[in-house]
Amino acid sequence: MEYENFPKIGFGTWTMGGDVVPNPNNDNKRDIEAIKYVISKGVSHIDTAANYADGKSEELVGRAIKDFDREKLFIATKVKPEDLAFDDVIKSCERSLKNLDTPWVDLLYVHKPNPEIEIKETAKAFNELLKRGVIKNVGLSNVKLKTILEYEKYLDKPVFAIQNQYNLVARESQEKGIVDFCRENKKIFVAWRPIHLMSPSIRKILGVGDEFPLLEEMAKKYNKTEAQIAVKWLTQQEGVGIIFKSTNKEHIDEILEAENFELSKEDWYRLDKDFPIKVYKSFNGSGFFELL
Ligand SMILES: NC(=O)c1ccc[n+]([C@@H]2O[C@H](COP(=O)([O-])OP(=O)(O)OC[C@H]3O[C@@H](n4cnc5c(N)ncnc54)[C@H](OP(=O)(O)O)[C@@H]3O)[C@@H](O)[C@H]2O)c1
Repeated sequence: MEYENFPKIGFGTWTMGGDVVPNPNNDNKRDIEAIKYVISKGVSHIDTAANYADGKSEELVGRAIKDFDREKLFIATKVKPEDLAFDDVIKSCERSLKNLDTPWVDLLYVHKPNPEIEIKETAKAFNELLKRGVIKNVGLSNVKLKTILEYEKYLDKPVFAIQNQYNLVARESQEKGIVDFCRENKKIFVAWRPIHLMSPSIRKILGVGDEFPLLEEMAKKYNKTEAQIAVKWLTQQEGVGIIFKSTNKEHIDEILEAENFELSKEDWYRLDKDFPIKVYKSFNGSGFFELL
């Protein structure tokens, strides 16, 4: 898949199989069904990571994709920050391929930079994996512009995708010009946590009540749900795609249907400018952090 035809909506798998450790009581069947369901609905981009349930999430993805044509899927996974030394990157990728039960991944990300390990060394390992053909593309996650440029000095292939938190609330990547940089340089910008702001817990942390009146107003105007408005605000931006997670078929349908309408230019800009809460740091559930 190229920049021009990259799918706007992809599927995330954080919490499938557990959190950072596997949950022995996880409902694996439910998670596998959800992944199969989105693929059957036409979603091809599936996102996971080595540290999601310590590989269990990758294993569930591997089981779910068995019945589908692998060539038509775009599977992305990530190497955790502790594993960015040369040998560790190679080992992490080998383990991911085993978990996913696939000969290659379409995209391998640096999950988060590790200032203790030289970028040059990590890039060398990614070059080796590209040469072996076991990864098709390189991605960087939770990065600022300087880090992207530094990686590109050493990588044999331009960075394909940047995966940072981005939504109506989380604006750091927009403010720091990373979204624009990606568009200008034909790199996919993958927005993680596109609908997280829907959840009561994040609204509580942000100090807002149950409603965002502007989102409610737009939802009424377009006869869509607030989640669909929030997703559309992202996917209507050239070069921006999302990955969302859900195990609820109604929620999945709802998000996928966000592709079937357009916000007017005026309303897109109104959401952009007037959205009442904007935060210029990422939020990972337990705290805010800056891009590295
Ligand atoms: N690179 C990184 O560091 C990083 C960090 C975080 C996440 N990610 C990736 O990004 C993906 C998405 O992020 P996320 O899973 O944290 O957050 P998200 O997709 O923004 O939100 C997921 C939550 O929203 C709920 N939800 C889904 N559809 C909904 C709808 N239509 N209406 C209301 N609620 C809805 C889901 O619950 P139900 O299951 O009940 O629908 C789930 O609790 C992850 O799965 C992961 O692959 C990457």
